[in-house]
Parts: sequence; C-alpha cells; structure tokens
Amino acid sequence: MNSLLKIPARDARLGMFVHDIDRSWWAHDFLRTRFLIEDDETLDKIRQLGRSEIVIDLTRGIDLDRLAPTAAEPEAEPEAKPAVPASPPAPVDNRPPWAIVTPTSFENELTAARKLHARARGLIRETMREARLGGIGDLPEVATLAEEMVSSVMRNAGALVSLIGLKSKDDYTFMHSVAVGTLMIALGRQAGLSPEAMRAAGLAGLLHDVGKASVPDAVLNKPGKLTEAEFSTIKLHPAEGHRLLIEAGHHDAASLDVVRHHHERLDGTGYPDGLAGAQISTLARVAAIADVYDAVSSERVYHRAQPPTAVLRMLMKNVGTHFDDALVRVFVKCVGIYPTGCLVRLESQRLAVVGEQHASNALTPRVRVFFSLKSQAHLPVREIDLARSDDRIASYEDPRTWGFDLSRY
Ligand SMILES: [Fe+2]
Repeated sequence: MNSLLKIPARDARLGMFVHDIDRSWWAHDFLRTRFLIEDDETLDKIRQLGRSEIVIDLTRGIDLDRLAPTAAEPEAEPEAKPAVPASPPAPVDNRPPWAIVTPTSFENELTAARKLHARARGLIRETMREARLGGIGDLPEVATLAEEMVSSVMRNAGALVSLIGLKSKDDYTFMHSVAVGTLMIALGRQAGLSPEAMRAAGLAGLLHDVGKASVPDAVLNKPGKLTEAEFSTIKLHPAEGHRLLIEAGHHDAASLDVVRHHHERLDGTGYPDGLAGAQISTLARVAAIADVYDAVSSERVYHRAQPPTAVLRMLMKNVGTHFDDALVRVFVKCVGIYPTGCLVRLESQRLAVVGEQHASNALTPRVRVFFSLKSQAHLPVREIDLARSDDRIASYEDPRTWGFDLSRY
C-alpha cells in the first residue's frame, strides 16, 4: 500500500505528518517540508496554502479518513467496513523535555528571558575568551543554552527578542552573538521549524562569529575606517571559526555551515567561498539577515546605531542580490517594523516605547505611552494596544535626541 497521500492543504489536520508541500519552498513560510502538524499555529499556516496540495505520510501521522470518515463516504455499507475509531489516535509525543512548554504572556516571560539573557552574556563571553586562548571549552553548555532560548521563544515569541538591543559598545562582540542566536530561533519559529531545528539554528547563531576570537581587538574595535589589510584580517573569521569548531570536536553540520557561510551573499559577492544562489543553505541565509540586522542597528565603537526602520529598508533594498526575499519577509513579521523597545511618536503627539508585537500586523504593536509633546511633560505610564486604538505610530524617534532612559518603561 502506498503510504503517501496527496490532499488539499485546506484539509490538513493536527496529527498529520507532512511529507511534501507542493509549492516552491520560497512561496510559503515553511523552511522544511517534512514535519508533524502538532500545533494550531502550524495547522493554520498549512491551511492558508488553500488549494495547493500537500503530501502526507500515513506511516508517520494520521490520515484523512480517520478524522472524517463519514464526510468522505456517507452511504458506504457500514457492516463491510472495519469499525472507525471515534477520535484519532493521539500522535506520539517525541518532543524533548525542553520543547514541552506552556505558552505565556509577554510580561510573564520577560522575567525568565532577562535571566536567560544575562546567563547567555556570561557564557558566550567565556566561550569567546576560551577561543581566544586557543580552544573552545564547554560547547555542550552552549547547546543547553540554545535549548533554553528555544523554550523561551516557544513560551512567548517576543520576550527574548525584545532584549537584543541591550548591549554596550564594550560587550558588543558577544552580545551580538546572543542577538543573532535569538533572532534565528525567532525566525525559525515564525517559519514553522521544529524545536530541534530551532535549537540547531540558535546554536549556530550563538557560535556564528566565534572566529572573531582570532582577530586582534585593535582591528575589531578600530574607531576609524579599516585599511585593506585590516579588512582582509576580519574576512578570515568565518573560515577561522569553522576551523576552531572542528578542532574542538564540534561537528554539528548546521553550526559549521553557518559559521563558515554567514557572510556569503546570493549574488556571489560574499566571502569566504564566494557561494551564490542555491549554493547557500537556508540557515546560512537566515544567519546573514539576523547578523546584518543586529550589526547595523547596534551602537558599536566604529558605528552609530541606525534606526530599525532604516535597517529593514536596507535589507529589503538588497533582497535578491544579498538577502533571500521570502526570509526577509518572515523576518520583518518577527521583529516588527517598530521593534520592541524602540521609541516612537504617536499621531496624538505622545512618545511611547514599543512593547509586544501584534501577531499579524507589524504596524500595530502594544506601546507604553509616557510623554506628551504638546505639554512637554511626562504622563503617567499607560499601555495602549494600537490594534484596538485610533492612535497610530507616526514615526520612529531616536532616543539619543530625547535623552530618555527607555529601560524605565
Ligand atoms: Fe561574522
């Protein structure tokens, strides 16, 4: 009996195992085509593919008839057919313990996310320090950190992401690694990756710049323009990181790929291998977007932070040549047009800090209003859900212009 069955995507059910999606991978949000449909969010995304067909594997998940036997053949001879179970057998739960989580609110998760973020800071700083001394020590601990980060993003997609801006010029190198790991996990969740694939993406992101340990501080943190020789030294870090990981006995294919290829560009102008188009893996494309987004929007010794709106515009301007079009679109859904933590001016002439993102509208996050531009005075802090308000975001505002300590809000 053929174990594969082609069905319309709109007929998908929880518990089905998707073997293939009959559309080009770039036409939908799924970065993989083989997975169990185990939550409503994934199911909704599959059903949104409408008339497109999916292929389900009947040996790894439930089939159509077991869920809707009467709808398919209402007048069939009941005595000639085997008894139909009243409800489908529950799919076997093969998830690792860290992937079994209960969704929670943004505010609840923020406390756990802050602790995790602080732990990540210490661990990645230590990993980079060890790499600088010639070896990488506790990679299993970094892998455990990636699992905890996945758990956090699965409990609430926005909390850990909202902390990526918390870095200073001094701790940029390792906090950038934490940010890229976080963004890769969040993008993976948005794209429907399995927890295991999100973990691989997170670990790869945490390690992506480990080769910078081989670049002298004087070059890494040089305030002015780099000479050609200095830039050549920086460009060695992907291959150097790849070598360091192999020497440390770390053979995870996803991490090795991302460490080596996160500076490759679709048009072949990247480094170190000058890969182009399909030669660049999906995960390396994801890493390229997360890396550039965080680097350009962060304050560094030699670079003024760019407004997130300008960074997103830059990413979009370079889709097709540098960045993957479909992945940039998924990324924007993840971080929002006005990312959590940024300062905005509302049409009502009030200043507010962006809070939790809206699941389907990147322009209407929750915001915390705290200052009136009309009266030039502080207001009692009040949260507004812009999805349910007449007020709208008028513009991004540079916090340096205003001198407010946004972490208070
Ligand atoms: Fe890099």
